[in-house]
Amino acid sequence: MNTTSYDASSITVLSGLDAVRQNPGMYIGSTDLAGLHHLVYELVDNSIDESHAGHCSQITVVLDKDGSCAVEDDGRGIPVDLHPTEGRPACEVVLTTLHAGGKFKRQSYQYTAGIHGVGLSCLNALAVSLLLEVWRNGRYYRQPYAFGRVAGELEEVGPADRRGTRITFLPDPRIFGEEITFSYAILARRLQELAFLHPGVRISLHDQRNGKRQEFQYESGIPGFIEHLNREAVVLHPQPLSIRVQQPDLAIEIALQWTAGYGENILSYVNSINTVYGGSHVSGLKVALTRAINHYAAEVGMLNQENGERISTFDILEGLTCVLSVQMAAPSFEGQTKTRVTNPELKAIVDGAVHDELLRILKNDSRLAAQVVTRALDATRARLAARRASERVRFQTVDTRISKEVYQKQFGIRSKNWHQSAVWIANDDLLAEHVKHLHDEPFPRMLDVCCGSGVVGASFKYRVGTMFGLDITPEMIALARTRLHHVSQGTVYELPFRDGAFDLVVNREVLHLLPNPERPVSEIFRVLKPGGQFIVGQILPFGPEDAAWMYRVFKKKQPLIFNMFQEEDFRELLLGQGFVDLTMSEYHLWESIDVWIDTHETTNLHRHEIRDLFYNAPQEVRQVHPFEILPSGEIRDLWRWCVFSVRKPA
Ligand SMILES: Nc1ncnc2c1ncn2[C@@H]1O[C@H](COP(=O)(O)OP(=O)(O)OP(=O)(O)O)[C@@H](O)[C@H]1O
Ligand SMILES: [Mg+2]
Repeated sequence: MNTTSYDASSITVLSGLDAVRQNPGMYIGSTDLAGLHHLVYELVDNSIDESHAGHCSQITVVLDKDGSCAVEDDGRGIPVDLHPTEGRPACEVVLTTLHAGGKFKRQSYQYTAGIHGVGLSCLNALAVSLLLEVWRNGRYYRQPYAFGRVAGELEEVGPADRRGTRITFLPDPRIFGEEITFSYAILARRLQELAFLHPGVRISLHDQRNGKRQEFQYESGIPGFIEHLNREAVVLHPQPLSIRVQQPDLAIEIALQWTAGYGENILSYVNSINTVYGGSHVSGLKVALTRAINHYAAEVGMLNQENGERISTFDILEGLTCVLSVQMAAPSFEGQTKTRVTNPELKAIVDGAVHDELLRILKNDSRLAAQVVTRALDATRARLAARRASERVRFQTVDTRISKEVYQKQFGIRSKNWHQSAVWIANDDLLAEHVKHLHDEPFPRMLDVCCGSGVVGASFKYRVGTMFGLDITPEMIALARTRLHHVSQGTVYELPFRDGAFDLVVNREVLHLLPNPERPVSEIFRVLKPGGQFIVGQILPFGPEDAAWMYRVFKKKQPLIFNMFQEEDFRELLLGQGFVDLTMSEYHLWESIDVWIDTHETTNLHRHEIRDLFYNAPQEVRQVHPFEILPSGEIRDLWRWCVFSVRKPA
């Protein structure tokens, strides 16, 4: 290669805006869908800055049929007077010059999303055409641009009885490609979050391509945002926790709420910019949550101090929905897309403030604190147990209050697609495995408790007299009545039957869903006559090695699961209530996980996480728990059904 021509003439100096066109990614992140929408965010962020400075209450975004987008506000209007040193109207300066803006000095704005003074000029450089309209000083002004350059003088069109700015731009298809267009859904999401972050401001989105239109305005602020995010989740506590900290030049606002889900959903903002990759504020938040929860748990004696037990951050974040918003005077971001905040001091500030405030909240509300700590502690213990294969733990997510509402919900949901939800429900061989345990005596009265559709009870048909059933939801009762003689409504915590009413009770795969399973078992014991038999089927882990892993799979499959029994636990549960003569048999059943993964109880996120759990199953789990991942991606799992029989002493 000839390198001799490398001299001063090889050094190209690009004008500012040519540089943007040559390397747009440096300014807007990318030239794909995200980059295209970033252009709109630049405009909306400027309007939000106006609103935050107290001058704007309405922002309107319009998507036009010709592919252009207009953002309008009722703020002060970009200044149009001659710039003292540039000799051109100020608006022309900010639209055509990189690093020009009104936010470097803090006299016109306090906390701003804008800091670099490049947003408008970058956007302009990447637009085929742009029209600036300003209403200011009682006059209406207009100026056209093309590819970042002035395409006509600033024109004073006439009088105006309003204030504000409107910028209409057509993105350059040579930069973004012909095929990508603005997405209503993406914009709506961002505008809605801004409306939550700025209570009172009204933000409208209007899509003229299809007539869709929405208006976002909320008074509920960040706690309202959390309620919106969690609107379909089962929440651990009804009210989001809310933390506000005000310091000179810094305001922190946080709302958080734990759900029964598994995903972690932390949305973070600095001066309303969504810092999607987090940064020092999010690091500080995570440290604070971990410190405060461990601090509290240790203080009230929930941690096993002898073992140096500590709840991990990972487990604290499980199921957490949190919005963290920081307003500060001098944020520093990684690049113009502002996806990560880098101010190093922010971590310690957020950590300190949030720790103290959260600890205070936990101390003031011991019930809430117990829920939050117990949930995280269980998750930690379950995970550790997966590593300590020799140690036997019974996993229980202990909210031991018995909530009928929760069960109604869980079983109500299940009723909808019960018979499609898994192969095992009506599997003949599995049913026969239960019947095999039946002793040779007359069984005039049988009860199928939590009978579901009644298939388990009905499989005993030719061996028993009258078949009774009990379930909680009207849907299930109706279904079970097609198979059993008498089906009552009620809960297994208080069986609506007299002592010694039955010769046989049967049940399958329910006890793991119930808090305090001892109580239903003792109820079953009570309603059996002396010498009566209880036959119960349950999916159990193959050993302690896969117990914690299965617990996690099941929790994603059945969000309300309370126990992952190990075989020993289950035996103890039965014998502990006074039953005797325990026998057990196993039945192994292959099933594609797709069969049960796609139910009303499982969200898309859960499905994804369940697949991940199989893909990433630890070695010790693979050694004891057979499953296969087929080339098609289908996962087949082996269920270990354990069928137990016990007897009430005669
Ligand atoms: N809607 C608006 N209303 C009033 N003034 C505006 C508006 N939009 C922009 N400005 C003015 O134009 C300046 C330049 O905006 P621009 O977005 O280019 O930079 P910035 O917001 O200062 O910083 P950043 O590059 O980080 O966005 C702003 O600093 C502000 O003074
Ligand atoms: Mg800006």
